[in-house]
Amino acid sequence: MAKKNEGYLSAKESRRISRENRRITNAYEKQRKRKNVPESEYLTEMRDPNNAVEFDNLHTYFFTDAGTVKAVDGVSFDVPTGKTVGVVGESGCGKSVTSLSLMQLLQRPQGQIVEGEIRLNMGEKAYNVVKVPNEQMQNLRGNFISMIFQEPMTSLNPVFRIGDQVDEVIALHDREGLSKEAVRQRTIQLLEMVGIANSQGVARMFPHELSGGMRQRVMIAMALACSPRIIIADEPTTALDVTIQAQILDLLRNLKDKINSSIMLITHDLGVIAEMADYVVVMYAGRVVEKGTAQEIFANPCHPYTIGLMASKPVVGKKVDKLYSIPGKVPNPINMPNYCYFKDRCEMCVAGCEGEYPCEISLSPTHKVSCYRYYDKTDKGGDR
Ligand SMILES: Nc1ncnc2c1ncn2[C@@H]1O[C@H](COP(=O)(O)OP(=O)(O)O)[C@@H](O)[C@H]1O
Ligand SMILES: [Mg+2]
Repeated sequence: MAKKNEGYLSAKESRRISRENRRITNAYEKQRKRKNVPESEYLTEMRDPNNAVEFDNLHTYFFTDAGTVKAVDGVSFDVPTGKTVGVVGESGCGKSVTSLSLMQLLQRPQGQIVEGEIRLNMGEKAYNVVKVPNEQMQNLRGNFISMIFQEPMTSLNPVFRIGDQVDEVIALHDREGLSKEAVRQRTIQLLEMVGIANSQGVARMFPHELSGGMRQRVMIAMALACSPRIIIADEPTTALDVTIQAQILDLLRNLKDKINSSIMLITHDLGVIAEMADYVVVMYAGRVVEKGTAQEIFANPCHPYTIGLMASKPVVGKKVDKLYSIPGKVPNPINMPNYCYFKDRCEMCVAGCEGEYPCEISLSPTHKVSCYRYYDKTDKGGDR
């Protein structure tokens, strides 16, 4: 049966997969739930001390009953301190899973990091987040890394007042033993910092009384509460209309300079990246296909996927009959081909594309691309 209906599993096969999954994920969970793990187990060294975060060959899989989803499959990139890194790619390519891996907020037990390192710079030392047990992770979240989610309405609790929710975040991470009044004062300060004029009034309101833009500002205030070293903004403006979007981006940009943290900005919108990012990482089907400085990516996009993304973006003043769209769709993440994942959609194939997945080619010290079209452009033939 399983053979006849390709893509469907028999009940027996499904049971076998789920048994096997349980065995694998239980082992990972046991490891994570240990208490009093010595720090030496997750201490590591940054490759470059100027980086806030280094993703190194990250593999994050979901062990589902239908098979193993390789959501992130060998992703490496750096987030330099004080800079904004834009992560771009179409829906489902693994952007959120990459950031959730850094936060250790993957859907457990099926979501697991199976290989690779995420190095987090904590100042005088560095931690490998992949090995940090649950107990310690609480302390990293908020104090070192925080996240702004896509949909501010679902991230705020509808039955508590705004002020109380921000207070809670501050009190939770408070190490100085602030009084109740001092906490509230800090809340008001934060609300003012993110551009909420009537901060006293807003603190007494419920989430439904605010507009989408205001709610997103509150979310940003909460993310900033403990001056994190890195802020992950996962599609922070997708749920907002265009004018509010511009205001929120301005706000993020100004705040980053004020508190000197790094931003990992996740979006499918190249316009947002162009406005905000210092570095760009282009992801496709769980892998990085091209990365470089914003200047390099926008002036000289090299991977056919990046070129396609650029061409499918509307440009003011340019007249076109129909906007370009990349043909085909992303391959099924359970059954990835053993050749370049983009080959079936690519309009620029060369002879080498028949071969296995291309390795990373350096076009400049910062500009890297995984594509056979550039194999002859370097004498090394790739330096993975
Ligand atoms: N909890 C989950 N269980 C199974 N598969 C998941 C889960 N979360 C995400 N995925 C899969 O991982 C892949 C990457 O998802 P995601 O990182 O959310 O994409 P995006 O780039 O749009 O943020 C997708 O194929 C998605 O179906
Ligand atoms: Mg996402």
